[in-house]
Amino acid sequence: MKLSIVKAQGFVPAGSLAEVAAQTAPCNELLESGKGPGNDFLGWVHLPSSITDEFIAEVQATADLLRSKAEIIVVAGIGGSYLGPRAVNEALDHAFGLNGNNPRVVYAGNNIGEDYLADLMELLDGKTFAIINISKSGTTTETALAFRLLKTKLEAQVGKAAAKDLIVAVTDKEKGAARKLATKEGYKTFVIPDNVGGRFSVLTPVGLLAIACAGHDIKALVKGAQDMEKATGVDVPYEQNPAMQYAAMRNCLYQYGKKTEILVNYQPKLHYMMEWWKQLFGESEGKDRKGIFPASVDFTTDLHSMGQWIQEGERTIFETVISVEKSNKTVLFPFDEENLDGLNFLAGKRVDEVNKMAELGTQIAHVDGGVPNIHISIPVLDEYNLGQLIYFFERACGISGYVLGVNPFNQPGVEAYKKNMFALLEKPGYEEATKAIKARLAE
Ligand code: PA5
Repeated sequence: MKLSIVKAQGFVPAGSLAEVAAQTAPCNELLESGKGPGNDFLGWVHLPSSITDEFIAEVQATADLLRSKAEIIVVAGIGGSYLGPRAVNEALDHAFGLNGNNPRVVYAGNNIGEDYLADLMELLDGKTFAIINISKSGTTTETALAFRLLKTKLEAQVGKAAAKDLIVAVTDKEKGAARKLATKEGYKTFVIPDNVGGRFSVLTPVGLLAIACAGHDIKALVKGAQDMEKATGVDVPYEQNPAMQYAAMRNCLYQYGKKTEILVNYQPKLHYMMEWWKQLFGESEGKDRKGIFPASVDFTTDLHSMGQWIQEGERTIFETVISVEKSNKTVLFPFDEENLDGLNFLAGKRVDEVNKMAELGTQIAHVDGGVPNIHISIPVLDEYNLGQLIYFFERACGISGYVLGVNPFNQPGVEAYKKNMFALLEKPGYEEATKAIKARLAE
């Protein structure tokens, strides 16, 4: 992975980046020493290097068992218990679901859409399917609702005894409701460590099991993360440390009015990687009335929708581009005798060459238009490089949150909607809140 901040530096006053950069080493040190805010959630910092071959083998064996039994594997989870595995799987899966002998992996528990769930039940009708229920608490409404539906359907289709072997719970060690249910029913379980928050959990079984189920190489993913753990550690100085440089540049831009960061990809398979990144940075930094707003676009698709705003709208944005140097497959631009579209000048070129020129042309246009550009490139879209990217962003996020002056590891704000929803649904224990919210609505 390579990072370049050259095309962003010109947008901040001389000397200002050095000032912010100087803060990154102590902030990185805080992640190591565990003396900063949120220090009970630092289990991710040395997670990659703590993963053993035996542990990977255990996850793989469970995945292989599910793969041998099920034609569809439903991964139930939301937020930090969902976006990581989906990000990696979508980046590596065939774009149109032609994944050879691998089971189809689908996702549930990440919304409350009745039609979505009805369609899912229809898809699973008469199919052999397995469930990975991912929930640290076991009480998250979206996931618990989907799991109830899925468990009921599976038991109805194969019987309770067989269903037990087709359900795996990924949950906390002992406290949560999903742990209690798994123990009672005798499900195979994996632990989400107490000291790893959801958005930092992709390299725990939260991500690893579902990624292995889709047929991807979790050993290579972990290896990539391990190498990045070394490359971003406290012993690596700012000049060589990409996580510190990224954290410094984005905070410096923020201080000079760039309040929105747009993560950009030129490979549609990275769409969910952007979604994962938005949660990582949004939930970590958006608090105390501060924080860069993390947005994302898929280019060139969104150049035809958001391109105008980015080129000429309010100058409060910067872009971070994830560029994949080489495509995995080859498609050549075809020659056409009639050339009605005038594109024969591209005939014989690789499609990726056209994409790269679109990328370069866009970078020049956007920088000319006043949009600072941070550039991240990976050689190819594979497990190893995704592992690097994941840990790079996690480490940068921890450093960046400390530079910003917030606790990057809590998320108190996500409770507000839940409290109102439960009050409106008249959940037992919410009687006072129900009265209060109904009175407000009657005003
Ligand atoms: O990052 C977080 O803490 C959240 O996104 C949670 O992961 C999400 O709400 C799911 O929670 P749980 O795993 O308890 O179901």
